[in-house]
Amino acid sequence: MIHDLFGIPNIDFYLVISILIFFFILETLSGYWHKSQRTSSDWIQELGGYIVLGIAIKPQIVIAVLFLGHKIYPLEQPILSGWNLGIMTITYLLIDDLLQYWYHRSAHEYPFLWKLHRPHHQAEEMGFFVSYRNAFLYYIIMPNIWWVGFFTFLGGAKAVAIGLVLKQLIIVSSHSTVSYDKLLYKYKFLQPFTYIWEHIFITPAFHHAHHGKTKRDGMSDPNGNFGNMFSIWDQLFGTAVFTRKFPADYGLENDPKEHWSAAYLYPIIKSKDKNSELSKGYIKADTTRLEPSLVEVVKGEKYLYCQCGLSKNQPFCDSSHHGTKHKPLLYEAPKTGKMRFCNCKLTKNGPFCDDSHLQAKK
Ligand code: FES
Repeated sequence: MIHDLFGIPNIDFYLVISILIFFFILETLSGYWHKSQRTSSDWIQELGGYIVLGIAIKPQIVIAVLFLGHKIYPLEQPILSGWNLGIMTITYLLIDDLLQYWYHRSAHEYPFLWKLHRPHHQAEEMGFFVSYRNAFLYYIIMPNIWWVGFFTFLGGAKAVAIGLVLKQLIIVSSHSTVSYDKLLYKYKFLQPFTYIWEHIFITPAFHHAHHGKTKRDGMSDPNGNFGNMFSIWDQLFGTAVFTRKFPADYGLENDPKEHWSAAYLYPIIKSKDKNSELSKGYIKADTTRLEPSLVEVVKGEKYLYCQCGLSKNQPFCDSSHHGTKHKPLLYEAPKTGKMRFCNCKLTKNGPFCDDSHLQAKK
């Protein structure tokens, strides 16, 4: 919170709360809250997690960074004191969002971080509160929160306050069930603006695709669209999947739905369910085989071929690739018939066997 932006004390705090209330009213008016199947476990993770983040984790980290900064490198004059507020805000936001892109992407590619981020993808309904659904440790080591403290230490408190409000607006709207961008897609005369907007900012359609359950629906890609405020990083680093449609199913395939305590407090509390990635000693076994599978495919059907070698449903994906750098390959059968699918994952002609397993045997 800051005290003198535009002469209104703590205006950033009021704006952040107002955005949440605004989206709550929008989702209520749209009828979403009557239909919601949220369980008490969901509420604890989403509302409870947001409160802990807002009143404990974030302020404590910022205070710790300011304290350490003044101890280690006391500044007579803050480095950013002469900067224009607009330039300072854009600088803060661009670095913040680049940090978050790589943190979020790493959370999909590395097993430990994936376990902290996994609760975010267990949500089977979207809604603005899903934005804050992660394990508590995910936030403690999140570089962005430390960046808030560091930029404030450098003298950028006002830019941080403005940046957090703008970022909150994009993030909350991209998770909400009331998707403003549907209006943009509806009217032809808005297309030039829409094209520019979606190539700069994260839209609800862009982010909903990241939460979609499976790539088989033709619009989702849980292994793409990692940006939070700007879509430029996904375009730059090759992970952007632009769509203007919304998935029918959200969440994770094969989700054991453990108790909120394991989801939120992992690794302090582990799941008692042996099938859960969050259980003690859980490992994803290598399921590759040095022989192909002969599978009858049906014309027009979509198949997700496993490329990570961990699926228990070989040769097809069962979502075990989460927490690795691999992603499944989408295959649409052009005709009905039997096909030889690769199980060794050495093929250069995925998803089909090219006899690479014969070399591996030697
Ligand atoms: S389980 Fe999805 S790629 Fe292996």
